Amino acid sequence: MLEDARRRTEALLEPLSGEQLTRQFSPLQSPLVWDLAHIGHFEELWLLHGGDERLSRHDDLYDALAHARSERGSLGLLSPDEARDYLKLVRAAVLDALPDLDPFLVAMVVQHELQHGETMAQTLVLAGLLEATLPQVDASGDVVVPAGPFTLGSTDDWAYDNERPAHVVELPSFRIDRALVTNGEYAEFVDAGARAPLHWSDDLPARAPVQHVSFDEAEAYARWRGKRLPTEAEWEKAAKTLGAELDHATGAVWQWTSTAFHGYPGFRAFPYREYSEPFFGSDYRVLRGGSWVTDPLVARPTFRNWDLPQRRQIFSGLRCASDD
Ligand SMILES: [Fe+2]
Repeated sequence: MLEDARRRTEALLEPLSGEQLTRQFSPLQSPLVWDLAHIGHFEELWLLHGGDERLSRHDDLYDALAHARSERGSLGLLSPDEARDYLKLVRAAVLDALPDLDPFLVAMVVQHELQHGETMAQTLVLAGLLEATLPQVDASGDVVVPAGPFTLGSTDDWAYDNERPAHVVELPSFRIDRALVTNGEYAEFVDAGARAPLHWSDDLPARAPVQHVSFDEAEAYARWRGKRLPTEAEWEKAAKTLGAELDHATGAVWQWTSTAFHGYPGFRAFPYREYSEPFFGSDYRVLRGGSWVTDPLVARPTFRNWDLPQRRQIFSGLRCASDD
């Protein structure tokens, strides 16, 4: 899985020139070569040094919390060739040590690389260097999810701290749309005076899911249709209980929920505080489901993504819900 994740990273960056890898295309995104070396840094930190930052080769240069994305273009970063050599060096040592490594930490490092693949894909789309491959939406109508208890969260070995502990939640019955909101449907909202999504054009496929919509826009759209966004508990219950009745639950676009990002009752940060805990609070909203570029190892029904309500460079769309 480590090697599969690396092949995805290499395939994504392979067509790019050195200049494209080192340019800061947007203050919202790191230069791609930062993401690349950061992938190696994270792997070195967790699989070779047990999380001890002092032992890492590149001190805080590739520490995500030490430098804002907007500043990363002006740091003395490794060149693309140096970054690739660094990743190879770390990987060779990791493969040697593999039998002795903690399987959770290996899974975390695999997912981390895959998640940065998605971040880099956002950068490539912003730069006009990558086009989305979205599925067609054929489903219509909504489904009732009956009242009753279900288990929110995960006990899976791969689950992050923020997906734990799994706990029983009781929800009243609600309705959820089988389908994601499409470009064609969203175009009616734009025609009615709403702001167009990022990267919007009139020739987007009408039956593909709309993406690059902010939380604020998603919420306004749902209200305009006389509906609302699902809570994240509703979303997860629907994804776990409806099966294929919920069209493109995962792997098309991330879906905004109305829920602010908080720890579940009994949350304990591990293996490091900075993965999710600093983002808990009312500032961030939870997205669920996974996008066209999210690896299936990450796009699981319990995975919690989060972002600021105004953000739309991410591959974010929506599915509407309503009270039953
Ligand atoms: Fe990271």
